Amino acid sequence: KYEGLALTPPMGWNSWNKFACDIDETLIKEIADAIVESGMKDAGYIYVNLDDCWHGERDSLGFIHPDPERFPSGMKALADYIHSKGLKIGIYSCAGYKTCGGRPGSRGYEYQDALTYAKWGIDYLKYDWCNTEGLCAEGAYMTIRDAIRSAGRPMVLSICEWGDNQPWEWGKDVGHLWRTTGDITNCFDCFVDHGTWKSWGVTYILDMQEGLRQYAGPGHWNDPDMLEVGNGMSVNEDRAHFSMWCMLAAPLIAGNDIRNMSKETLEILTNKEAIAVDQDPLGIQGFKYSSEDSVEIWFKPLVNDEWAFCILNRNETDKEFVFDWQKEKVIDELFDKKLDTQNKTYRLRDLWKHEFVGTTDEPLKAVVPSHDVLMLRLVK
Ligand code: DGJ
Repeated sequence: KYEGLALTPPMGWNSWNKFACDIDETLIKEIADAIVESGMKDAGYIYVNLDDCWHGERDSLGFIHPDPERFPSGMKALADYIHSKGLKIGIYSCAGYKTCGGRPGSRGYEYQDALTYAKWGIDYLKYDWCNTEGLCAEGAYMTIRDAIRSAGRPMVLSICEWGDNQPWEWGKDVGHLWRTTGDITNCFDCFVDHGTWKSWGVTYILDMQEGLRQYAGPGHWNDPDMLEVGNGMSVNEDRAHFSMWCMLAAPLIAGNDIRNMSKETLEILTNKEAIAVDQDPLGIQGFKYSSEDSVEIWFKPLVNDEWAFCILNRNETDKEFVFDWQKEKVIDELFDKKLDTQNKTYRLRDLWKHEFVGTTDEPLKAVVPSHDVLMLRLVK
């Protein structure tokens, strides 16, 4: 794969969660404009990613073309537009003969498609897993990886086989991120049964990340799916969702209509202090330290011996909470980190209030509202 890409979790936007198959070049350009104007670009959102259904047909020589009605100017022009804004463009294909949306997939056309994407100026490829009967996942993703390499343009490769074939075990040398689960849906604590498949709310996806943190690091990330911030959950649920994705060092791919979002949604998506936790250069995925009464405490080691701390209240009611820094022993055995609050005093920075709220010399007392978080950075 192309090394040196995605050294921190990729950040950007993707069309699927909000628009599904209803995409065209006007929408994508307006989104690119909005990323710049809203301040999201400054906050780090760089990739503008088209998901399924941009496709038209293959021509008689096998070259894929975008839907001529929805993308009349062509992909090269769209890529040029996005690049002119200082952003990067992502595209979508599928390892099967057809995409999940029934459009032409890349099976049998991997090298040709990679060449086409390179010619268009594509910077990121999400590669899906529908209609892949008889294919070996690792092999299929290696094929598209090699195809991208030989096309000669650096692209982030996003492996999207929903965690079915343990991509964390082989993904590191193949792609830059891999989905760990089926699709996310815009609810906090529920799932939706679609008959042959299910989509999962925030807490379900969160629970499915158990045991995977050892596989993540700079250039190779667990991907708990794209953000649903601004797509219908309450503000506190959106904040909790975003905070937990930052604790997980997850790719931050916004999935809402950013041309038209509330002040609260923008504030969540562009919280630079929370984003700094996600984008920390150590690239260590956070871990659940304790869980009692559906109140979870998470830690994430950061550079310079600092730590992120997050209390997640999964209850329907507010919860009072006490955490005595002198009594707890916070050790990250996998990455060999120890939080030493006995010999060091850390200041506690509240990453949503943007103020200091005490030190580790005193027990932390807090009320965490239902479906919300208290997220702190322990600053030396
Ligand atoms: C399944 C993926 O998991 C989704 O994120 C999305 O890309 C759809 N396919 C598109 O059909």
